[in-house]
Amino acid sequence: MNICVVGGAGYIGSHAVKLLVEKGHAVTCIDNLSNGHSAAVDPRAAFFVADLANTFQIIDIFQKQKIEAVMHFAASAYVGESVTDPRKYYRNNVSNTVSMLDAMHAAHIKKLVFSSTCATYGIPDKMPMTEDLPQRPINPYGESKLMVEHILRDVAKAEGLAFAAPRYFNVAGCAPDGSIGEDHRPETHIIPVLLNVALGKKSHMDLYGTDYPTKDGTCVRDYIHVWDLVEAHVVLLEALQPGKGLFYNLGVGRGYSNREIIDSVQRVTGKQIAIKEAPRRPGDPPELYALPAKIEKELGWKARFTNLDEIVRTAWTWSSAHPRGYNG
Ligand SMILES: NC(=O)c1ccc[n+]([C@@H]2O[C@H](COP(=O)([O-])OP(=O)(O)OC[C@H]3O[C@@H](n4cnc5c(N)ncnc54)[C@H](O)[C@@H]3O)[C@@H](O)[C@H]2O)c1
Repeated sequence: MNICVVGGAGYIGSHAVKLLVEKGHAVTCIDNLSNGHSAAVDPRAAFFVADLANTFQIIDIFQKQKIEAVMHFAASAYVGESVTDPRKYYRNNVSNTVSMLDAMHAAHIKKLVFSSTCATYGIPDKMPMTEDLPQRPINPYGESKLMVEHILRDVAKAEGLAFAAPRYFNVAGCAPDGSIGEDHRPETHIIPVLLNVALGKKSHMDLYGTDYPTKDGTCVRDYIHVWDLVEAHVVLLEALQPGKGLFYNLGVGRGYSNREIIDSVQRVTGKQIAIKEAPRRPGDPPELYALPAKIEKELGWKARFTNLDEIVRTAWTWSSAHPRGYNG
């Protein structure tokens, strides 16, 4: 299949490009490099540096490359920044996605997998989280992703678009062969932040909130390995149905506390990690973890990386070999 990965130079998108190439698909990658790295893009893919806002350029790429399906990972994805600069989030995550849908329409592309997020649920009423929970985002980032879910539903109904909107929990780890990794600038995800401390690139990690009503007082999250996540995208692509949207939680179904993550990083790296305890951050729910039963039952997908140390080890393999990230 001719598949376009939008945002394919980013953390998750670059893993999708690699997996799709390895599965024998003809892969085209589009990225504006606002956050991604060209070195992350598998050289077997065709790579175009382009911004989703440039509808005519995107139509041209879609047509020339004879694209049949799109995986859309491009977004602005910092929760805190979305609160201080909401226009950026609605512009890039909503307006630019609509521009991309225009380009798909012009190029007669009817298949789409879109990165949604558990942030669309806001603070959930029950745990573990199922897909039927009310979606009440508490920041513009989550709101922008929920808006796109609604837009996609309407476009599917009107035009027969076949789409999936998997809602990711915390994505972690790196390609099992160590070839590509996670290098956000700035880095806010807990595992790479801890690995940066282990590498001496950061003096310590700020641990926000130690008085939550959880097993050890710190926040609990569900960590899904990036390779499992992109494999789920391939399963979703095969399951798409015209005019219909597929909504699934993508998590492992188990929560790890921040202290458990710190312990795992210390075990895997063999380094002592300096921690500074800090007050809770506003809007951080105590616990977030998925019930991934729906996708397991309906599509037969199941996470293979269920051991936290194994997930951390894949991230450490890449980070320790690339202490300067994609810069060296
Ligand atoms: N990483 C996670 O834990 C997580 C969790 C939930 C949801 N998500 C979602 O998954 C997707 C990928 O996340 P990631 O961690 O790989 O982010 P990332 O920032 O590493 O990747 C996003 C890529 O999109 C590109 N991009 C952004 N705007 C663009 C535009 N207008 N035109 C072209 N390219 C553009 C960036 O340059 C970047 O390479 C995002 O949509 C994010 O919201 C991620």
